[in-house]
Amino acid sequence: MQQTTDAIVIGGGIIGLSIALELRWRGLSVQVLTKDSSTAATYAAAGMLAPQAEEIPPGAMLDLCLWSRSLYPDWTAKIAACTGLDSGYWPCGILAPRQRLTNHPDWQDRDRLSQYLPQASLGPAIVGGYWFPQDGQVDNRALFRSLQAAVHQAGIPVIEGISIDDLSRSRLDQGLITNQGTFSAAQYILATGAWTQELLPIPVQPRKGQMLALQAPPSALPLQTVLFAEDVYIVPRRDGRIIVGATSENVGFLPHNTKSGIQGLHERALHLCPTLAPYPIGEQWWGFRPSTPDEMPILGPSSQANLILATGHYRNGILLAPATAQLIADSICNKPTPLLPHFSYQRFPATTQPDRPPLAKV
Ligand code: GLY
Repeated sequence: MQQTTDAIVIGGGIIGLSIALELRWRGLSVQVLTKDSSTAATYAAAGMLAPQAEEIPPGAMLDLCLWSRSLYPDWTAKIAACTGLDSGYWPCGILAPRQRLTNHPDWQDRDRLSQYLPQASLGPAIVGGYWFPQDGQVDNRALFRSLQAAVHQAGIPVIEGISIDDLSRSRLDQGLITNQGTFSAAQYILATGAWTQELLPIPVQPRKGQMLALQAPPSALPLQTVLFAEDVYIVPRRDGRIIVGATSENVGFLPHNTKSGIQGLHERALHLCPTLAPYPIGEQWWGFRPSTPDEMPILGPSSQANLILATGHYRNGILLAPATAQLIADSICNKPTPLLPHFSYQRFPATTQPDRPPLAKV
């Protein structure tokens, strides 16, 4: 058996790395085990920090999202101070254009909305919308690189290529059996995103998102704010990439982009903001969001005493990384976590154990 640590995080995406780093910052010894961190939803995301633009209804989920958004400035600054790497955190505000008038008190008409876009114009169908100055974005790929560097610098081993056995049939008090030997820790944290149901019978399903990036000259970026419409969003990066997302497809782990997926996104983006028409598509990709039936993450204790869940972040994994790390670390350090019970796996009816081969992907 390998040397015992305080905690083992299973999963090397943004949630797993954020938790590992937070635990290390609090003085615990940690290891990260991952099958293939390059497949994590982290890389595929757009990086919007958008609790308001996403229209998350009032309640524990909105509280968690707003808290996490408020942690972003200090959290990314701390990671940058450790690594010297910039994560592209940009509190640029989010504009939410709409095609139908409402009588909401925060409604702004088309002319007011256009003032937030001095170098771009909205499509003719837009009649007005909302401005969320506290929402923003982070460059999720840059953040991922920064987190990987911070984890490395903190001396946290990250072991790739790990396959592990079905956890519901495992005795974790005897260690975690993997294809690379048995690992032992006082606490295990499961942060396996869309792949969670391969390891435990909790309701996390992949929801595919296709995306594309237009390429504009960084010196003449036409947008300085995110646009978040009902059928498409547009996220300008300071390096000139303009991310357009995303489809939402219930197709399991079916890979690849489709012509209709990418064409549809491109058309909707130009309909929303015709200014973007001259820019070529520089990249297209896809990823798998970890969705849950109520679109809230699953956090906290599991049916096994020393296994903690941190998964199912669906559309908000990037946003929720710092708050998830705080909550999970607080619970491991026996601090009060009043928000945690709202995210228990027990809010769902028990699911049946799916058939699966003995070794599963992490
Ligand atoms: N957070 C946006 C998306 O999942 O498409």
